[in-house]
Amino acid sequence: MKKLIALLIAAMALVGCSSAPAKPSETPAGTAGTTGGAAKEVNVGVSIYKFDDNFMTLYRNEIQSYFDSLSNDQVKYNVTIQDGKNDQAEQTNQIDNFIAQDYDVLIINLVQSTSAATVIEKCKEANKPCIFINREPSEEDMNMYRDADGKATDPYADMYTYVGADARQSGKFQGEIIADLENKGDLNGDGVLQYVMVVGDPENVDAKYRTEFSISQYKESSGLGVEKLDEQRGDWDQAKGQEIVANALTKYGDKVEVVFCNNDGMALGAAQAIAAANRTVGKDIYLVGVDALAEAVELVSTGGMTGTVLNDHIGQSHQAVDAAIKAVNGEKLDTYYWVDYVKVTPANAAEFK
Ligand code: BGC
Repeated sequence: MKKLIALLIAAMALVGCSSAPAKPSETPAGTAGTTGGAAKEVNVGVSIYKFDDNFMTLYRNEIQSYFDSLSNDQVKYNVTIQDGKNDQAEQTNQIDNFIAQDYDVLIINLVQSTSAATVIEKCKEANKPCIFINREPSEEDMNMYRDADGKATDPYADMYTYVGADARQSGKFQGEIIADLENKGDLNGDGVLQYVMVVGDPENVDAKYRTEFSISQYKESSGLGVEKLDEQRGDWDQAKGQEIVANALTKYGDKVEVVFCNNDGMALGAAQAIAAANRTVGKDIYLVGVDALAEAVELVSTGGMTGTVLNDHIGQSHQAVDAAIKAVNGEKLDTYYWVDYVKVTPANAAEFK
């Protein structure tokens, strides 16, 4: 009996009885399975600027599930998603670790878009492809290894990319949604739109573009003038959106005709403040956001918001994953991959539920 047990133990040791998943460092870069028929393992390192963000939570979950849906007998995608905690030092550390552990490809939602150049240099040095998402690096950084004609001056030019949506378009759509109203949003009929602007975190150029293009497009489409009553930074955050709009309504009261929010998170906060001030969207005030979060689409269809703009996290995450796989397979990447925004109003809200 003792002999049998000893034999069993020896056999188990030989086969290896640990069921713990192999660490990426143990299955290096695109290594095909060592034993016949094993799937090729691809290790993907993802860092999100912070987990505590409504939109980026949908986005990162979709990255994971899309990779999962693409894993099969031939290839297995091991996806590690880390929380940058809105701290660039923390995120840089995560990137260093992904590189040190020989991950095959990185997908990075920068904390500070100005850190792009440093990240690109690190990845270039390690020869790791890098897909930037959501926070667009400067044009200069995206073209670091290209000449004035766009020709690559280094092979790394084709190994990194930005996947995103052109935030100018989302701003323009917000402006159009208001300009398309029968009264063009001009509730008091004075030919001027009195508005409040709730701005996102300026680390994302989306905040700048939405702030700018919503108004320029409104003026162009409506032919009316505008008067900015207030513009405050709400950092994409619902609680801040609520506070800013509550204060603006206390200060400017009925003068406020439209509240523009750079995203739906802040617009949901604004909707709460509007209700608390006994104002009614669609009757004595208008409210627009961006993202088409489920709660916002619901409000649009029941009249609690005038409109929103779909920020297509599914299209963007799939495009980012497709680009990552392309790069792992040694194919050249374009410098940019763009995904369109879509206007959401009561007329089509049902399609987005
Ligand atoms: C989204 C925001 C989000 C931000 C994060 C924007 O594109 O509209 O909801 O908070 O990205 O960087």
